[in-house]
Amino acid sequence: MYIYIKMVNIAIFASGSGSNAENIVNYFRGNRDINIALIVSNKKDAFVHERAKKLGVESITFSKNDFETTDNVLDYLSQKNIDFIVLAGFLLKVPHNLIEAYPNRIINIHPALLPKYGGKGMYGDNVHKAVKEAGDKESGITIHYVNENYDEGQIIFQEKCSVSISDTYEDIAKKVHTLEYMHFPVIIESLVKELL
Ligand code: GAR
Repeated sequence: MYIYIKMVNIAIFASGSGSNAENIVNYFRGNRDINIALIVSNKKDAFVHERAKKLGVESITFSKNDFETTDNVLDYLSQKNIDFIVLAGFLLKVPHNLIEAYPNRIINIHPALLPKYGGKGMYGDNVHKAVKEAGDKESGITIHYVNENYDEGQIIFQEKCSVSISDTYEDIAKKVHTLEYMHFPVIIESLVKELL
C-alpha cells in the first residue's frame, strides 16, 4: 500500500541581501513535507543569488517588466509546481496575476509594527530610520498576507521589541532581524502545514 504525502513547494522572493531567505532555507532543510524549491529576485546582482548558490537552491531573476506586463513569472512558478510564495525583502509590488493565482498563499514580512511605517518606500533601513526619528519606544515585525496594496493585507502575526533612546537605526535593525529569524520560518511552517 502506498501512502501519498504531498510535498509543498515554496518560492522565496527577495530583492537584496537575502539573510531571511537563507534562514528559511536552513530551517526547512531535510523537511519531508516542505521544500524551498526556488528563490526569485528582480535584481540579477542581489546578494541573495550568492547565498542561493551556496545553499544549493535554484535562483532566478525576472525583470520589473516580466513581473508587471507578462505571465513569465507565473508560468515559471507553475512549471516548478510552486504552491506558496514568501516575500522576504522583496521590493516590487506583487502583480495582479500572481495574487489571483495564489489566493492567501503569498505572505510578506515587514520590519515594523504595521499599520505604522508601511507603504511605498518603506522598506529595510528606511523603516528603522523612521522609527528612530519618531522616537518610538518599540518596533517589531509584521507577517501578513499580500494583496495589491503595499503592506495592507490581513495581519497574521506581530512581535514587538523595545527601542531605547540610545539605539541607532542599525541597533533597531539588528533587533528586528533577530525577531524575523526567530519567527518567520515558524509562521511559514504553520501556514503551509494547512496545505498538506
Ligand atoms: C527584512 O528586514 C524585511 O523585513 C524587509 O527587508 C529586509 C530584508 O533583509 N522587508 C521590507 O522592508 C519590505 N517592505 P534580508 O534581505 O537580509 O532578508
